[in-house]
Amino acid sequence: MRLEQSDCTPVWFMRQAGRYMAEYRRIREKHGLLEMFKTPEIAAEVTLQPVHALAVDAAIIFADILLPLEAMGLELEFVEGEGPILRNPVRNRTEAEALRVPDPEETLGYVLESLRLVRRELDGKVPLIGFAGAPFTLAGYAIEGGGSRSFIRTKRLMYEQRETWELLMGRITEAVTAYLLKQAAAGAQVVQLFDSWVGCLSPADYRQYVQPYSQAIFRRLAQDGIPAIHFGTGTGDLLPLMSEAGGDVIGADWRTWIDEAWARAGTDRGIQGNLDPVVLLAPWPVVEKKACEIVDRVQGRSGHIFNLGHGILPQTPVDTVRRLADLIHERTHKRDSHQCP
Ligand code: CP3
Repeated sequence: MRLEQSDCTPVWFMRQAGRYMAEYRRIREKHGLLEMFKTPEIAAEVTLQPVHALAVDAAIIFADILLPLEAMGLELEFVEGEGPILRNPVRNRTEAEALRVPDPEETLGYVLESLRLVRRELDGKVPLIGFAGAPFTLAGYAIEGGGSRSFIRTKRLMYEQRETWELLMGRITEAVTAYLLKQAAAGAQVVQLFDSWVGCLSPADYRQYVQPYSQAIFRRLAQDGIPAIHFGTGTGDLLPLMSEAGGDVIGADWRTWIDEAWARAGTDRGIQGNLDPVVLLAPWPVVEKKACEIVDRVQGRSGHIFNLGHGILPQTPVDTVRRLADLIHERTHKRDSHQCP
């Protein structure tokens, strides 16, 4: 995070708590997803499952990027097999004006409580990561009313209704900033901003319509010295602009060589990534080879956090994830000489 030397490269995985783990599925059978997020004891337990089962170097709080949209006034539902749905999407100025900038203590207090519980349980064992969705990705869900392949409605609103876009992005930015500051106060030692779908934008549009908002969030976090990771997918040509927006560490997906991504983000930052999550469905020798290729390209420079380029898939074998975390530690340990294939 601060580009300091460490004994070995730190490892964690996006979606490290989830359906690929039997312990998770056992809890999930009995509870709805929203109920799990909103019950701090359950959220804390699920957050800790991967920390107990795998040699990961961080815990990430069990929550969802869409919860603040619910707090802002959108009706959020997770429909089995369909993913998230927002029943009253934002399509015009009146609907954007109706959104609240919520007080995180009042509306998202359950996430803050989960953070406090996990921090206490972890007792310094590994750092705790908080997170939020970035303004563009959240605006995308708010406008589309759910996930989308190409974000056509979102881009049309951005081009056609300039004032509505600014209003919506401004409110989301305020809500996310307040939420992340509270997460840090509740015990998150690092926060990650997920701009998962920002790769659908041209660099020019990113700079014009998105960068100022993400930048405002990172500037505010930096004022309080809160370390931050800035993540997106499909961001090859956006990496320099994302880095300009902010983040001590830039997250890259697998579509870019890790060293190339690092050069684009700037070597004054850390880099996080970037194994293709689908690789974890392959036989172990393939996983080992591809993970080692990443480590080799980094060439032992400090500031690399090993992760996937996106979240773990539900069909991933737990044993592969466990072996991968161990492999990265062995392979990057300063005194160890694990030979890669
Ligand atoms: O990484 C972690 O372990 C922490 C928990 C976490 C979840 N969602 C829990 C979750 C995090 C960091 C997120 C972030 C999130 N949520 C993102 C950004 C990261 C990314 O993947 O790009 C996005 C886009 C969402 C929105 C979201 N939530 C979608 C699209 C879905 C459905 C996808 C699916 O896999 O079914 C969710 C549901 C969700 N959030 C699950 C989990 C573990 C699936 C759980 C289940 O059905 O039991």
